[in-house]
Amino acid sequence: MEILEFEEENEYIEKVKKINKEKKRKYYILTMGCMLNENDSEKICGMIEQMGYEKTENQLEADLIVFNTCCVRENAEDKLFGKLGELKKYKKETGCIIAIGGCMMQEKHIQEKLYKSYPYFDIIFGTHTINKFPEDLYNAISKNEKVKDILDIDGNIYEGIPIKREDKIRASVTIMYGCNNFCTYCIVPYVRGRERSRNPEDIIKEIESLAKEGYKEITLLGQNVNSYDGGNGYKFSNLLNDVDKIQGIERIRFISPHPKDFKDDVIEAIKNSKKICKILHLPLQSGSTNVLKKMNRKYTKESYLELAEKIKKEIPEVVFSTDIIVGFPGETEEDFEDTLDVVRKIKFEQIFMFIYSRRVGTPADKMENQIPENIKHERFDKLKELADRQTVENNVKYIGAKQKIIVEGKSKTNEKMLTGRTETNKVVVFEGEDKLINKTIEVEIFKDHVWYLEGRVV
Ligand code: 5AD
Ligand code: SF4
Repeated sequence: MEILEFEEENEYIEKVKKINKEKKRKYYILTMGCMLNENDSEKICGMIEQMGYEKTENQLEADLIVFNTCCVRENAEDKLFGKLGELKKYKKETGCIIAIGGCMMQEKHIQEKLYKSYPYFDIIFGTHTINKFPEDLYNAISKNEKVKDILDIDGNIYEGIPIKREDKIRASVTIMYGCNNFCTYCIVPYVRGRERSRNPEDIIKEIESLAKEGYKEITLLGQNVNSYDGGNGYKFSNLLNDVDKIQGIERIRFISPHPKDFKDDVIEAIKNSKKICKILHLPLQSGSTNVLKKMNRKYTKESYLELAEKIKKEIPEVVFSTDIIVGFPGETEEDFEDTLDVVRKIKFEQIFMFIYSRRVGTPADKMENQIPENIKHERFDKLKELADRQTVENNVKYIGAKQKIIVEGKSKTNEKMLTGRTETNKVVVFEGEDKLINKTIEVEIFKDHVWYLEGRVV
């Protein structure tokens, strides 16, 4: 693996720009999946806008349509095929360019399905070749032939890809690519390759310039951030300490750490920082030691609970969020009860819940005792009911409390109100003047709702 500069693609950016000159071209992009994909899309948008396209939210007026896909669960796949179906007529009428990239494109059976059933696409590109998008686009336009740009081996890291960020206050910064963990349900290690970390200097430089642009909140991204390896013994805790020193950045978040790698130096770094948010995402996946073993997670119910307790002891104000999968092959009622038990004990601030989805090529797909759909759904509903109840109970605790929030803008549902988020990621809606937007202020919470809190400026 090499760390390279993006520059070589500039030639193609210029070529496409020339083709598009004075044509007012528009592009539409749909991003599926996680924040890493969103961050990749911001880079794709950065390159596309340099090539003279303007963004549109309406796919039926776009000259270039991009799908950045996810394959972690089946529903993301269904979404892509649905979208492509909708576009068949539009493509025929307009000759627009359809480019499909991201994790799904790394899968052979998906590539074959596209060629067979949706042959009207123009470009497919994988997770390791995003940097070559300008070249792929130029070839698709100028040669009028299909472009397939997919690497099966791990790609290099490219620094300096132009980036068009969606938000003005919060920014994501990918610190590492790939995953080495091979949890048995997960497709990510197959489509994103092995772990590769960016250089600390490049990350720091990027965050420093974000701070200069006025960004206040940074989320460090990676599939397993606490195995970040900056070289010469420089670890994730070192990176946290260094990011903490950057002036102007007020909040630091990171997703996702793996419980098995959550070591004391990281706990220490969080404890010593005023900026690292005291809500930690600690993916549980299952509360049953049996299931965790079959998932290859390398921790037990007990060691997870001990870790959470240890963190709480060191940093009492910490709360947790998590990911949970229900219906993993062989999961018994008793196993599922163990998951509920951990949920009751930890009282997560937020739970991202998933129904187990079979992924071609993963070990769990070949396991016997796949759980019937109706039982998976029953368990999901039961977990959701518990989680929702805990959210309501938890929200009540905020009433009367003063909370620091970064004001993001006007509320989408009520023009007269503003919204912002607490350190624990709760949305707060409150009355205030527009000049508060982008500022960090204190509010007192006076009313709770399931998905947001109401506050007043203090
Ligand atoms: N089925 C259901 N959920 C999955 N996840 C990953 N793979 C699968 C799968 N095959 C979930 C995990 C992970 C989150 C990003 O997606 O909970 O943490
Ligand atoms: Fe998938 Fe496990 Fe890697 Fe997360 S740590 S990306 S769940 S294999």
